[in-house]
Amino acid sequence: MLETRIRNAGLRDKIITAAQAASLIKDGMIIGMSGFTRAGDAKAVPVAMAERAAQDPFQITLITGASLGHDVDKILTDAHILARRMPFQSDRTLRNAINRGEVMFIDQHLSETVEQLRSNQIGPVDYAIVEALAITENGGIVPTTSVGNSASLAILADKVIVELNLNQPMALEGIHDIYIPTKRPSREPIPVMACDSRVGVPYIPIPPEKIAGIVITRESDSASTIEAPDTETFVIANHLIEFLLNEVKKGRLDLTLNPLQAGIGTIANAVLNGFVKSPFHNLRMYSEVLQDSTFELFDASKLDFASGSSITLSKACGERVFNNIERYRDKLILRPQEISNHPEVIRRLGIIGINTALEFDIYGNVNSTHVDGANMMNGIGGSGDFARNAYISIFVTKSIAKNGAISSVVPMVTHVDQTEHDVDILVTEQGLADLRGLAPRERARVIIDNCTHPDYRDQLNDYFERACKRGGHTPHLLEEAFSWHVRRAQTGSMLKQ
Ligand code: COA
Repeated sequence: MLETRIRNAGLRDKIITAAQAASLIKDGMIIGMSGFTRAGDAKAVPVAMAERAAQDPFQITLITGASLGHDVDKILTDAHILARRMPFQSDRTLRNAINRGEVMFIDQHLSETVEQLRSNQIGPVDYAIVEALAITENGGIVPTTSVGNSASLAILADKVIVELNLNQPMALEGIHDIYIPTKRPSREPIPVMACDSRVGVPYIPIPPEKIAGIVITRESDSASTIEAPDTETFVIANHLIEFLLNEVKKGRLDLTLNPLQAGIGTIANAVLNGFVKSPFHNLRMYSEVLQDSTFELFDASKLDFASGSSITLSKACGERVFNNIERYRDKLILRPQEISNHPEVIRRLGIIGINTALEFDIYGNVNSTHVDGANMMNGIGGSGDFARNAYISIFVTKSIAKNGAISSVVPMVTHVDQTEHDVDILVTEQGLADLRGLAPRERARVIIDNCTHPDYRDQLNDYFERACKRGGHTPHLLEEAFSWHVRRAQTGSMLKQ
């Protein structure tokens, strides 16, 4: 068994316990870890680090691909190990610590972290802890259900600890495509010309002597926490399908569309799930996280190919997919996140990007990260990588949150993740606003009319009309722009009594 998993014979005596691996981590180190939206994360060493910290307190900077499973961010937060954390998280305990100012969180475009590491703008990384399903004859690390930042973290780190997960199916070997961009400013073009372009090697190339230890694990990935599609997400999907069919009618797209990207979370997954019952066919995805909807589209014979950086599935979908991985493996590629999210490739392939907003304003600025301007939710993730460079940049959200106490359409967003310049289409269950070619005053009209919940429409019209009387290219009443958020803080609802 171990011979097929550790194919470099010289590395077989590097097996150590998680506690021994954890003892290598020293106070002040910068640690890179595998893991992207709960997939392919290091599972044993971080827990051993927390156990060690109970006797021997230490703090680190932790860099991952994105969010982690197995409550690792919670465990590390509770153990007070995290001094700094980047570039994304989605854990409630860590989120609270970030918002109390206890953990310094650097919220980054997901394509950028390893570029900054590679050019020594941040770093250097002391240890990379990377989950693998095998180690090749030449010491190459074969990742598992995500690539994320693992390749560059392992290549750039001083030393690497491998978590060899005997429970990850060997049939995943071969789906990874590890391509590392050349140095800037003389970089060659990234040679991804289509969703199914293979441009690298199927393992992370590192010299075997960099491997400090191999920890054997057997735990599966944590299942995703997304909710099932509901009435509102079904209606949002239908608005979007109608819009795309109209693009086909106008000759701008055909029924195979352009490659699709769908962001993390319940809403984007549900919207893509809606495409199962659409007239579109032979679809392709060039995305970041492949969620349940990707495999529902495969099973409905709607999707030909999916390229991503991780596979994050609900329990039921995960069992179906990983027990039958042979059925899907030739239609899948997992890439480093700097390639799945690369601006050059996104622009070249003409991606239709679908991401989720917490709130957007009457001019089309989008906030996906901060509640009331101050409190971090998860992070910008890859939404900015895609939105800025997409062929059509779409943001979806429900028109109200918290049983109507919050309108997702507000006079001015309290934090800007995507500026009005990067947003083409906004969709709520109320309707769709096509902002292309519109000036701010025109945008406000269609956003208020098409996307706003009826309970808030008059209130928003009133704001806009009074702002227009005052004038400006993008009219505002600065003294009132955040009054809706203030009202909710004071009365519990954004609605005027
Ligand atoms: N103000 C405050 N809270 C709001 C809100 C608003 N305007 N709109 C939604 N919420 C709350 C919801 O009530 C829900 O709260 P809960 O967890 O207490 O139930 C929470 O935000 C999540 O909303 P939900 O409707 O479940 O949406 P989701 O799971 O699709 O997540 C985002 C939405 C925006 C948080 C998520 O998509 C995200 O983190 N995006 C940024 C990163 C990204 O886009 N990455 C994609 C690149 S691949």
